Amino acid sequence: MSREVVRTKNLAADAADFILDQAHKAIDERNEFRIALSGGNTPRPVYARLATIGRDLPWERIRITFGDERCVPPDDPQSNFHMARETLFVPAAIPEESIARMRGEIDPQIAALEYEDLLDLSAKQRGEHIYRHDLILLGLGGDGHTASLFPDTAGLDETRRRVIANFVPKLSSWRLTFTFPLINHAHQICFLVNATKNADLVERVLRGDLQLPASRVVPTVGNVTWILGLPS
Ligand code: 6PG
Repeated sequence: MSREVVRTKNLAADAADFILDQAHKAIDERNEFRIALSGGNTPRPVYARLATIGRDLPWERIRITFGDERCVPPDDPQSNFHMARETLFVPAAIPEESIARMRGEIDPQIAALEYEDLLDLSAKQRGEHIYRHDLILLGLGGDGHTASLFPDTAGLDETRRRVIANFVPKLSSWRLTFTFPLINHAHQICFLVNATKNADLVERVLRGDLQLPASRVVPTVGNVTWILGLPS
């Protein structure tokens, strides 16, 4: 695994360029680009920028998944799908067939199994043991969580499943999330962290402090890039 840390005053532009570059490389090599989107607020301007510079991407050759989702309906403002549809899918006119939505509106255990089956079937069709994303985008929460793998939750210890429902006591809510086995199987991982995040927290993760879930993102053969926003 190689790791790159990019510090930039132009997080949205640099991150969108990075994603576009990864897309072109994957499509050139494998005629397909499999990307998992992260949620929260940091990606908003990145997706909006990508919708502009990536409008001419062959979106029909791109498979979009979600690294996690809140257990809410797709039209709920809290939904990661809702955010991505607003900032990227609609502006870039991405075909629905390219998007695999986690169904946050149904029973969390069923939604997780359904999504896991979808990825497993796709992996099997490609002769893969576990679905291998070309790129997984991840954020960093103030408590060191990433995707919906929060401190002190059962999801941290999942070593077999690829997608699970994870109860988050501090939020008193369920989340759907990729597990570390699935995340760590990616070709490339990119953390998007804006300037509002605590610098010490970021340094602790970069040093590998395992008390922070994000530190457990250590791809087996893939690479990790950190794009850290600087105050403008
Ligand atoms: C979510 C995300 C989560 C997010 C971090 C950072 O569903 O909220 O997947 O892991 O990336 O909480 O969120 P911000 O970018 O809003 O700080």
